[in-house]
Amino acid sequence: MSLPPQPAAPIEVLDSGTGLSIASPVSFEALQPGVEAVVSARHLTKVYGPLTALHDFTIDIPRGSIYGIIGPNGAGKSTAFSILATLLQPTAGAALVCGFDPTSNPKAVRKRMGYMPDVMGVYERLTVAEYLQFHAAAYRVPRSEWASLVPGLLELVDLDVKANSLVDRLSRGMKQRLSLARAMVHDPELLILDEPASGLDPRARIEFRQLLVALQEMGKTILISSHILAELQQMCSDIAVIEAGVLLASGSPDSIIHQLGNGRSVKVSFDDGTTETFSVTDTADQASLLRRLVNDDERTVVEFTELTTDLEGLFLQITQGIVQ
Ligand SMILES: Nc1ncnc2c1ncn2[C@@H]1O[C@H](COP(=O)(O)OP(=O)(O)OP(=O)(O)O)[C@@H](O)[C@H]1O
Ligand SMILES: [Mg+2]
Repeated sequence: MSLPPQPAAPIEVLDSGTGLSIASPVSFEALQPGVEAVVSARHLTKVYGPLTALHDFTIDIPRGSIYGIIGPNGAGKSTAFSILATLLQPTAGAALVCGFDPTSNPKAVRKRMGYMPDVMGVYERLTVAEYLQFHAAAYRVPRSEWASLVPGLLELVDLDVKANSLVDRLSRGMKQRLSLARAMVHDPELLILDEPASGLDPRARIEFRQLLVALQEMGKTILISSHILAELQQMCSDIAVIEAGVLLASGSPDSIIHQLGNGRSVKVSFDDGTTETFSVTDTADQASLLRRLVNDDERTVVEFTELTTDLEGLFLQITQGIVQ
């Protein structure tokens, strides 16, 4: 493996107001020219003894995107997220999150990033409102702001009626939503959400998805993992598929389907009862096929349908069920 590119050393400057040392954000060369990345990982690798949980993971998460990471159990999703969220040191490679290195400058990253882990801790004695105040205090949000912050967050995640309920009495879906609110107490520009929709019922999933889209419209960048492929397909601008620690594919849902699904195909039914499937490369090719069939084929076309490859089928096609 080649050596990972190192970011230029953060420039230490003194903040004129506090006299404290702060580092200026830096960036790697973009993987795609012109795309501003909020998160960049270069050759990130995490090894546990004989097991490589994450191998050579290189990715850019564009500003303002909802970026989905898909992979089966044990693929390395939580490992990657934990490194980006400053909770785990990589064995090799480097990352920049909101312009800062999560390993050498975790505080600068935490200030700008909200992390929702896949499991929520136990908070036996706290009410929902106290739970958010607790985390607001931990993130040094001024106490004077809590009175508007907490009800605002609870309204956003539709938990206002539960403000005085004990956290441990919430349903699982409600805990998930509270956990998302917790990740936002310091108004981060980036949210890293590890399987936020797991355990939610279908209606709650739809509402959760709408909430994430609303957050994106507010300008947040969202990195999310899931096993529910159709769900990511609907809301993500980009998707990366990983298995056994290795990135298998990345790009827009459509481009992944196109790259890995060997283009599109079209099913055509004719008036004589026959049906044929044709491969096409793009929309123009599809239009010329239709023209050719209408003008030149002696049969009459009665149905012309593009066959869509969904991510579920594609996922099974590109992952092999490797368990390490
Ligand atoms: N602390 C650890 N020590 C040893 N192995 C670990 C440790 N943490 C994770 N692993 C291993 O790393 C691999 C990747 O785990 P990870 O939790 O990142 O997967 P995941 O994609 O999040 O899976 P899931 O979908 O089940 O949440 C697994 O094989 C796991 O057993
Ligand atoms: Mg996980």
